[in-house]
Amino acid sequence: MANLAELCKNASVEEPWNGGQSRTRSVSPALLAGHSLLFSLVLGTVRLMRTVIYPGSFDPLTNGHLDLIQRATKLFDRVIVAVARNEGKRPLFSQQERMQMVARAIRGLPHVEADSFDGLLMDYVERRSAQAVMRGLRAVSDFEFEFQLALMNRKLNERIETIFMMPKDTYTFLSSRIIKEIASLGGDVSAFVPAHVRTALAEKLALTPA
Ligand SMILES: Nc1ncnc2c1ncn2[C@@H]1O[C@H](COP(=O)(O)OP(=O)(O)OP(=O)(O)O)[C@@H](O)[C@H]1O
Ligand SMILES: [Mg+2]
Repeated sequence: MANLAELCKNASVEEPWNGGQSRTRSVSPALLAGHSLLFSLVLGTVRLMRTVIYPGSFDPLTNGHLDLIQRATKLFDRVIVAVARNEGKRPLFSQQERMQMVARAIRGLPHVEADSFDGLLMDYVERRSAQAVMRGLRAVSDFEFEFQLALMNRKLNERIETIFMMPKDTYTFLSSRIIKEIASLGGDVSAFVPAHVRTALAEKLALTPA
C-alpha cells in the first residue's frame, strides 16, 4: 500500500498547454486503485477466458457425456457441447433432436452451452474462438482412434490443444450405441441417461421399425 500512496503522491501529469512541462500532482488513491482494478478485470476477462469445445454425435447424450461436461466446467470458463451432424453414423436422432436433448440436460449448468456444427471441427473451433477440444477416454479401445484424430487436428491447426478426460469409473462402459441397443431390446436405461433422454428413446424406438 506504501507503493500506491507514493505513486499517488508523485503522479506526474504532462500539460502540453503549459509549454509541454510536466507537473507533479497528487492523484486520489481511490481513483487510481479503481482504475487499476477495472483495467485488470478487463484484461483478465479478455486474456483468461478459456473456452473448450466438446464435440460428438451425442446420439443420444448419456450420463457419461454429462460427467465429462461437469469436469470440464472446473477447468474452463466456457464449455460448448457441439453436436456434430455425423450423417455417416446414420444417427437415430436428428441433429436438432440431439442438440435439444443436450440443451435440456445442461440447463442447470452455468457457462455451458449447446450448439451444433457441420464440416471441419477445427474450423468450428476457430469460429467459436476456443482454445481446446475435449474428448473422452473410456478404455484403451478409445485411445487409438482418439490419438489419430487429435494428431490430425493438430496438423490442421497447431494452436488448438486436445485434452482427454476420464469419466467416473461407473461410466467407463457407457456408450450411446450400447444405450440404444439396450433400449431397443426393452431394457431399462434410466441409470445411464437423463430422464428426458429415456423418454425420447422410448418414443423414437416406438416409431422406428426394428
Ligand atoms: N461414458 C463416457 N465416458 C467418457 N467419455 C465418453 C463417454 N461416452 C462418450 N464419450 C466420449 O465423448 C465423445 C463424443 O462421443 P460420442 O458422441 O461419439 O459418444 P459415444 O458414446 O462414443 O457414441 P457412439 O456409441 O455412437 O460412438 C468421445 O470423445 C467419446 O470418447
Ligand atoms: Mg463413439
